[in-house]
Amino acid sequence: MAPDARTQKLIIASNRLPLSVKRKDGTYEAIPSSGGLVTALKGLKYSDYLWLGWPGVDIDERDRGSVDKALAKENAAAVYLDENLAQSHYNGFSNGVLWPTLHYQSEVLFDNETWEAYQRVNKIFADRISEEAADGDLIWVHDYHLLLLPGLLRERLHAQNKRCPIGYFLHTPFPADDFWRGLPFQKQMLDGVLGSDLVGFHTDEYKANFSSACGTHLGAEVEGGKIHYNGRIISIDKYVVGIECQRFANTIDHPEVQARIQELETQHKGKTIIIGVDRMDYTKGLPEKLEGFRVFLEQHPEWREKVVLIQIAIPSREDVKKYQDLEGEVSKLVGQITGKYATPIWTPLLYIHRSVSFAELTALYSVSDVCLLTSRRDGMNLVASEYVACQEARHGVLVLSEFTGAATFMQQGSLLFNPSNANGLSDALYDALTMEKEDRKKMHEELRSFVTTNTSSKWTETFVGELKKLQK
Ligand code: ADP
Ligand code: G6P
Repeated sequence: MAPDARTQKLIIASNRLPLSVKRKDGTYEAIPSSGGLVTALKGLKYSDYLWLGWPGVDIDERDRGSVDKALAKENAAAVYLDENLAQSHYNGFSNGVLWPTLHYQSEVLFDNETWEAYQRVNKIFADRISEEAADGDLIWVHDYHLLLLPGLLRERLHAQNKRCPIGYFLHTPFPADDFWRGLPFQKQMLDGVLGSDLVGFHTDEYKANFSSACGTHLGAEVEGGKIHYNGRIISIDKYVVGIECQRFANTIDHPEVQARIQELETQHKGKTIIIGVDRMDYTKGLPEKLEGFRVFLEQHPEWREKVVLIQIAIPSREDVKKYQDLEGEVSKLVGQITGKYATPIWTPLLYIHRSVSFAELTALYSVSDVCLLTSRRDGMNLVASEYVACQEARHGVLVLSEFTGAATFMQQGSLLFNPSNANGLSDALYDALTMEKEDRKKMHEELRSFVTTNTSSKWTETFVGELKKLQK
């Protein structure tokens, strides 16, 4: 059957699935995954799709049936990987080498074994997807765990005579060449991504950095939104990712969430709440946030006993040493600030180092007057959008690191600062806390218009729409 005579199935490939499987008391449980990639895809409305990814742990064959069933409810299916292989691919190469490089961090732990595992996992995904794909299906690959996959897929699909447009989206920054070129095997990874027909980034800056790397290292010709490489033309563009605002509005309206909002307001009566929500990741600048908050309390004693920072740090990548070290550093700083400034009737910060439910997260966003996000680098940062979506009544202020992708789009309505400068952070916080009502409203409206226009459904529709046009 000709591809256009049937509905094209959409195959999504990412390392993380919408559900992550964890081991608990000798059995397994599937819980909603956290992170921007999963949030970005929440608005997908494609009628026929399958989402393939790693379930999060190795699962005994006899237990796979129940996992498969739970995933199937989310249109998802597992690419099972043995424990050592997954460990080397995920913790080793993806999070030990690629993640820091893409975020301009210089401590990179490269070794050949993890690179082998990275290639192996990309091949396993390629084999699985080429089996699943029928001629004419659309394929959308996500993020840095699967940089080689588009190229591997192209070879396999070609050999099977299947014409499937391949899209690729990177959810992190793509760094300037001085950083990127230091990565061993970087050419293979660029070549892998260029196996796609369409490549997407969060911002023009990341797109330009990638294009320039392809020109410099692969001799590709870049012309506007097209890359000419190996006799093929690859489209490249920025696609502004977002959230589903309605999901937040509906949750806020829920009577239980309203009750929780009232309860939190009563508990913190007379205090101004600053909220922070981040995965426990060194790219999020949590030590910088705490240091900036400490300087703020020092410089503005009049705010002591009047302000509280509620920081949620969602546990993340806990098997990686750098993440374990960060957890220790953050706990220590929290202890120091509390020890120095707390009084018998007040604690300056509430530190929650665990995952909270969506309803609780929505309630916390709603009762906060300021949202403080201090990333050293961040591909986009969807927490910024989520905060805005919950602030229709309060018009809270977004205090945002200039090194987030979100700052590119939200600078008009937020207070930007450089997180390495604790004094600058403290000043931005002070400006936010003392801002006039009218100004808060204006800034909120600016942000709201961005967040409600650039939704997750628009992002998915636009990207998949472009991919469809590339069907040959
Ligand atoms: P990153 O992708 O680096 O983690 P983002 O800010 O873009 O950064 O995305 C984080 C996402 O994780 C947000 O959508 C946030 O709501 C979500 N999140 C936070 N806490 C939880 C949780 N307990 N369960 C599921 N998702 C969560
Ligand atoms: C970032 C990455 C995603 C990842 C998420 C959560 O958003 O770009 O690919 O899924 O962090 O991290 P995790 O390691 O738990 O998948």
